[in-house]
Amino acid sequence: MTSGECRDGQSAFCGFDLHRYARVVPARVPWDTNDLTIRRLGKQQTKSSVRRLASDLPISCIRAHGLTVYSIQSFKSVEMIETSREVVNLDWIDLARELMPASIDLLYVDPPFNTGKVKSSHAGSYQDAWPTTDAWIDWLRERLVATLPALKPTASILLHLDQRTSHRARCLLDELLGEDRFVNHLIWSYGLGGSSPRRFARKHDDILFYCLDPNAYYFDPPMVPATSNRMKGQLKKATDIIDIPAINNMASERTGYPTQKPVALLDLLIRACCPEGGTVLDPCCGSGTTLVAATAAGRNGVGCDKNPDAVKIARERLAAVEAVHS
Ligand SMILES: C[S@@+](CC[C@H](N)C(=O)[O-])C[C@H]1O[C@@H](n2cnc3c(N)ncnc32)[C@H](O)[C@@H]1O
Repeated sequence: MTSGECRDGQSAFCGFDLHRYARVVPARVPWDTNDLTIRRLGKQQTKSSVRRLASDLPISCIRAHGLTVYSIQSFKSVEMIETSREVVNLDWIDLARELMPASIDLLYVDPPFNTGKVKSSHAGSYQDAWPTTDAWIDWLRERLVATLPALKPTASILLHLDQRTSHRARCLLDELLGEDRFVNHLIWSYGLGGSSPRRFARKHDDILFYCLDPNAYYFDPPMVPATSNRMKGQLKKATDIIDIPAINNMASERTGYPTQKPVALLDLLIRACCPEGGTVLDPCCGSGTTLVAATAAGRNGVGCDKNPDAVKIARERLAAVEAVHS
């Protein structure tokens, strides 16, 4: 028996960060909802639900708090769905290596854009500088490659960038997934910001939308208010230009964390690209906007950030939205 495996009925301990996360105790086989207890060491007990998978996986995994904590080869048809959501303080690459294969419906990433600066505010800061664009691409490539096995065949990727690197990231995604996996180059037109006497004012971010399977990916077209006189007062399918204002200084959702995105943007993207009850992964979650929007929209959010300040803010926001939506 290797580390991370167990025999039927045995108490099992997770291979991943045991001391911080969980002890998994299967009570009897076959399991049902009450058979599995997760004890967070030193914290209160959390109940989780267990579901039988329609098809056998070669290796079934037990997950807790959004992480694969344990994998079992003898229980081929059991998957644990964690009912509470948690944000973890990890590097994206470490989380990616622990995720259950084929478990994620939507990967949304809003990584550092390589602005060459430290992004800083009273609520936190993060390093956003690589020596070269090539170095940034290498950083991104390593993490995307590590994450791809965790995506379901029906999954999509939304990679949120700006003019500095979106052209390079598009080539990277073409290379990793194939050009025919490209779905949209979304423009998030946010309005706020200054102007320049030397160029047209930059007022948008780029969101690259790729799928894993062009014939199978989930998509529910968002409906937005029509602007033409002919359709006034009606809804129409959204285009690839998303007009949503950036968060202003007075907005109630503002946490103060640098580069926080508006919940309205993530709400639109998640409802369009992740089925209800599905799971969204945000491995650079910052203040937790994606996880908040996912929870409010009836999806599961799994997130990490390597900045502990971000994780603290994200957890607080998530607890508040869970209190309303649970
Ligand atoms: C653009 S911000 C995300 C903002 C977020 N979408 C929000 O609405 O608050 C990028 C985040 O990536 C995090 N980050 C940078 N490198 C990381 C890594 N290797 N693993 C995980 N998070 C990372 C930073 O700490 C920062 O919080």
